This record gives sequence, structure tokens and C-alpha cells, in this order.
Amino acid sequence: MKAAILTHYGLAEQLIIQHDFPVPLPAPNQVQVKVMAASLNPLDYKIRNGELRWIHPLKFPMVLGNDISGVVTAVGENVSQFKVGDEVFGMMDANVKPACNGFARPGAYAEYAVTREDTLALKPSGLTHPEAASLPLAALTAWQALHPLLSAIHPTQRAPNVLINGGSGGVGSLAVQIAKALGATVTATCSARNMTLVQSLGADHVIDYSTTPVTTVSGPFDLIYDVAANLRYRDVESLLTSEGVLITNVANIATMLAPLSGPIKKLFEKRKRYIHAWVRSSAHDLTQISHLVSSGQLRPVLSQCFALDEVNEAYQWLTSGRSHGKGVLQIA
Ligand SMILES: NC(=O)c1ccc[n+]([C@@H]2O[C@H](COP(=O)([O-])OP(=O)(O)OC[C@H]3O[C@@H](n4cnc5c(N)ncnc54)[C@H](OP(=O)(O)O)[C@@H]3O)[C@@H](O)[C@H]2O)c1
Repeated sequence: MKAAILTHYGLAEQLIIQHDFPVPLPAPNQVQVKVMAASLNPLDYKIRNGELRWIHPLKFPMVLGNDISGVVTAVGENVSQFKVGDEVFGMMDANVKPACNGFARPGAYAEYAVTREDTLALKPSGLTHPEAASLPLAALTAWQALHPLLSAIHPTQRAPNVLINGGSGGVGSLAVQIAKALGATVTATCSARNMTLVQSLGADHVIDYSTTPVTTVSGPFDLIYDVAANLRYRDVESLLTSEGVLITNVANIATMLAPLSGPIKKLFEKRKRYIHAWVRSSAHDLTQISHLVSSGQLRPVLSQCFALDEVNEAYQWLTSGRSHGKGVLQIA
């Protein structure tokens, strides 16, 4: 089969199209998918250039790509939820068991991929394959960051107040919509060129980060979701409610030490928190996302489509020319 192969760490040029890469076969708990579309995530280039090798070393040759949308072509003997011909999407994981470091094994930039049954859901029927492929990793990231915290606030009968720093990108454009669907009042930051887009996604207040520093935005917020990962806790702590949370997807020393500092903070009655969240593949969460799509509360924000042969250009676009939302590789 045709696949974009990575043979060693490096820049986008290291991705080489190979025409006779072996088709992966499903293990008993896996599904083989003919990949129609796969999406581009910053995670892929961080893996590709070796930034994450201390926690997630690669075995070469390997195929990048975490998001798939496609058609089931074979199922392992223990698979019960899917059959040949089903249209599915998901944040794939070619590992037979989830890895202990939490990293899924990619493989979407190829004509066929295998993934565990528990990483897939049926593709929402109203979406094209490129639209569906643009969702899983980014939407799961936003859902898993927002849902546990916002659903804990909702029973108090008031709309949670949420600030999303970086509301126009792959994760942020979905986070704005998910926060609205979860009943929040949403303030979002983005560049001037994306303000109309972010408004159209439902944000109640949109801030141009180049003219208004986030630290001057009026709160207080129950939750600040730092998608752009450029906020310091001490700079935004005063914007949080007494039990407010700053959450980021990019781990740093402060968020890694947060679980240790929790009991000390409790001693001093400080209930504000700074945490980070890793996305994990989950058919259950993906199904919730599917419901939001079907009910019209979540729509993909697709910015650019590339062919598999254009994978190098696609990565150059992702790292330098990206405008908003998601980029997708159309494979079949
Ligand atoms: N740990 C995990 O599980 C996980 C999962 C997914 C993503 N991530 C990480 O999360 C980050 C975001 O991912 P993504 O896919 O959403 O990236 P992306 O599509 O590149 O989006 C980046 C966003 O940041 C905004 N931005 C840029 N400079 C900013 C600034 N100075 N202030 C405020 N916002 C700013 C951009 O707005 P404009 O375009 O309008 O300038 C855009 O909305 C990446 O570092 C990614 O690796 C981590």
C-alpha cells in the first residue's frame, strides 16, 4: 500500500512516500480501516522532529497520523461493534493495548490502518470523510479538558464562565463550541484575522490577543483553557474564581508538580488550580462528540485539504502558513 514513511527524526522532508509498505493486519481486538482521510496535528511534527523522544521514542520506519476517517475492511475475531463496510472515524491507536506512557501508536498517513475497536465510533452521517478526520484528536482534547470541569460546575444553576486562549486553531475552534454546548459563557482570544470565525462558532466575547493582553480581560473565570499554551499561572491567577482552574494541554514543570502541591495549597485554603491534560483515545468520548455534531452543536472547522503525496507541503503549511482550524490529508 501507499504510505508516508518516516525513517528517522527530522523536518517535513523526512516524510517519504513509499508504494509497497505492508498492509497492517488486525489483531483480535482491532479493526482494519481503508483510510479515506487523516488530519494534521501539531503532535505529529513534535513526534517527527524528535521533540517527544524522551517520553515517546520511535521505532523506524513508522507511519505518522493519529486521526482517521474511513471504511472498515476487516475485523479481528473479538470485535463486536463494527463490521466490514461501516464508515468509522477515530483517534487511532495501532497498539494492541494502550501504551503505559499514554501515547497512541499512529499510522493514519497510509491507505490502510489498524486500530483497537475501543478507539472508533461510527462516522456522523452528515460529515464528509475529511470533515470527520479533522475532529477526533482535537475534539477529544477539548472535550476531555472541558467536560469534567464544566459538568462539575453546572449543577449550581449558573453558566460557568470560561476563557479560551487560542480559540481559532485546531483544538480552540472546537473548544469554543464544546464549552458553549456545555452551557458556558465563553470569552475567546485569537488574532484579528480570525475574530469573525470565532464569533461564528458561538463565542460570547472575542478578544484580539495582539491588542488586548489576556491579563486585562475581565473575569472572574471558572476555567481558563490555555490552548495556545503561553500563559503563566501567576499572571492569570487573579482572573480565576476562588475555585477556578487554569488548564493547558502542554505539560510544564508547574503543571507536573501541581498534584504534589495540592495538599500544601489546601492547608492554606487555596483552591485555585493549574493542571494539564493529555488527550487519550476513547470511543465513549468520541460518541459524545458525535452526538454534538448530530445535534448541530459542533461543526468541524476545515481549513485546507492536501493529497497524501503532498504530505511535506502539508506539514510546511501546518508549521508556517496555517490560518485557522484544521488541515487534512485526503487519502482515497
Ligand atoms: N497534550 C495533549 O494531549 C495535546 C492534544 C492536542 C494539542 N496539544 C497541543 O496544544 C497546542 C494547540 O494545538 P492546536 O492543534 O489547537 O494548534 P493550532 O491549530 O496551531 O492553534 C494554535 C492557536 O493558538 C493561537 N495563538 C497563537 N499565538 C497566540 C497568542 N500569542 N495568544 C493567544 N493565542 C495564540 C492561534 O490563534 P491565531 O491563529 O488566530 O493566531 C490558534 O488559535 C499545540 O501545542 C499542541 O501540540 C496537546
